[in-house]
Amino acid sequence: MELALPWLHDPFALRGLWAALAIGGWLLLCWYCLAPVWRHRRRSSTARADWLIAYASQSGAARQIAEQLALAARHGGQAPALLPLNELSLDELGRPTRALFVVSTYGEGEAPDNAALFWRRVRNQRPALHQLEYAVLALGDSQYADYCGFGRRLDQWLSTAGAQAAIPRTEVDRLDPDMLQQWRTRVDGLFGLPEVDASTADTFEHWVLADRQQLNPNSPGAPAWMIRLLPAAAMPRWQAGDLAQVRIGQLLRTYSIASLPEDGALELIVRQVINDDGSLGQGSGWLCQHADPGATLEIALRSNPQFHLTGPDCPTIFIGAGTGLAGLRALLKQRQRQGRRDNWLIFGERCRQHDRWLAEEIEGWAAQDLLTLDLCFSRTAEHAEYVQHRLAAKADQLRQWVDRGACIHVCGSLAGMGNAIHGLLQELLSAEQWQQLQRQNRYRRDLY
Ligand SMILES: Cc1cc2nc3c(=O)[nH]c(=O)nc-3n(C[C@H](O)[C@H](O)[C@H](O)COP(=O)(O)OP(=O)(O)OC[C@H]3O[C@@H](n4cnc5c(N)ncnc54)[C@H](O)[C@@H]3O)c2cc1C
Ligand SMILES: Cc1cc2nc3c(=O)[nH]c(=O)nc-3n(C[C@H](O)[C@H](O)[C@H](O)COP(=O)(O)O)c2cc1C
Repeated sequence: MELALPWLHDPFALRGLWAALAIGGWLLLCWYCLAPVWRHRRRSSTARADWLIAYASQSGAARQIAEQLALAARHGGQAPALLPLNELSLDELGRPTRALFVVSTYGEGEAPDNAALFWRRVRNQRPALHQLEYAVLALGDSQYADYCGFGRRLDQWLSTAGAQAAIPRTEVDRLDPDMLQQWRTRVDGLFGLPEVDASTADTFEHWVLADRQQLNPNSPGAPAWMIRLLPAAAMPRWQAGDLAQVRIGQLLRTYSIASLPEDGALELIVRQVINDDGSLGQGSGWLCQHADPGATLEIALRSNPQFHLTGPDCPTIFIGAGTGLAGLRALLKQRQRQGRRDNWLIFGERCRQHDRWLAEEIEGWAAQDLLTLDLCFSRTAEHAEYVQHRLAAKADQLRQWVDRGACIHVCGSLAGMGNAIHGLLQELLSAEQWQQLQRQNRYRRDLY
């Protein structure tokens, strides 16, 4: 019998039909797998849960501790909402009767970026939070003038709003494991959480120093090195934007990761710290000078979602100086894997002759049109400029990119560059553009 659908004999039409069926099936499978995750995210963020765990975290430590608490609570059959402070409204804070706040301090006594909007919204308001019993864990570093400043101010604000501190605010200096454990023991008792060791949220693995290469021979600046490390066991996974916690003896130092796992090595860009008396910085001295290839050290990889790429569809502006190139380089490599060319890098160092770090690679990307590249040098007789000067000179281009939905990543020194860029963006962008950048989490920083 002759078929009534003659196109079924057409091999091209049949191929199209199979392709449509395959795509349809794939979409159905995605929906089936992701629907529970989406449902869970909505549940997590609506604060309809019986209690709340809120965090404020720049480089991931407070977030990890908050996640551990939520995990322990779920093991114990409880269902707390877990979210960064920026996702919390005053209404939502008025509902739960119990809350844990795990918050670090950033900048000069300021809220981390994922809490800054919340704080701006609420700090001058006086809601009635008499229903709320809470505990604040404040992370900080006592070498900063405003030690645990944000945690203190948040605690004060909660108390003024009538909330009751179930235990007094606990301040933890440089993630001191004993202090963390003591706080955790008290909270476990109070909130009925099953006991888990919370002394450190990081898991350390053994790594081997494979080799290092100076990026700036003869530079007027201190030597900067590309440090290549290989895992003693299998290559772990990480994402562009993540951090390495490097432990050398008792010493712990944080570095931005400059490579992707696919590169086959963990790469760091480390500046040799040279103290006034000529001695070397402890961590950078070991990595850049004292350790021989083959030496071993311990590293914990820390996820740093605050600095991850937003999504492949977002044009991306990368701004950095000096070792800030590390975090930006990993992100740029990731963008290239995503096949995206709408990348704009503004990078600053000292002198054109000796400080064209990774020139072959980075200028090669620009030559292949994978990147718009602005290099600025601050010690050049004819045209000395910092990244903020170049950004100001390209204000129109900046505004166009931001209007197209661009995400801005800033990496490197906070005092030397990050603060200047932060101020400049507010000057160059309209109030609406600036607020949208922050609200949509399109302004991402890894500053130190
Ligand atoms: C999120 C984050 C990401 C980072 N990413 C990077 C990166 O990618 N690359 C990078 O190079 N760094 C990075 N850092 C900085 C890094 O963690 C270290 O702080 C840096 O390498 C210096 O450590 P150090 O042990 O060598 O110096 P330290 O020994 O800690 O010395 C640092 C400073 O302390 C003072 N000091 C210490 N000892 C003396 C002394 N005897 N006399 C006088 N002054 C003294 C000096 O001011 C000196 O400059 C990052 C930091 C953070 C928080
Ligand atoms: C750029 C920068 C600025 C900081 N400013 C402060 C500060 O003003 N006061 C403070 O107590 N700690 C400060 N810290 C220390 C952090 O609060 C501390 O390292 C904390 O453990 C980080 O937690 P997080 O990873 O959740 O952001 C600062 C850290 C960095 C990198």
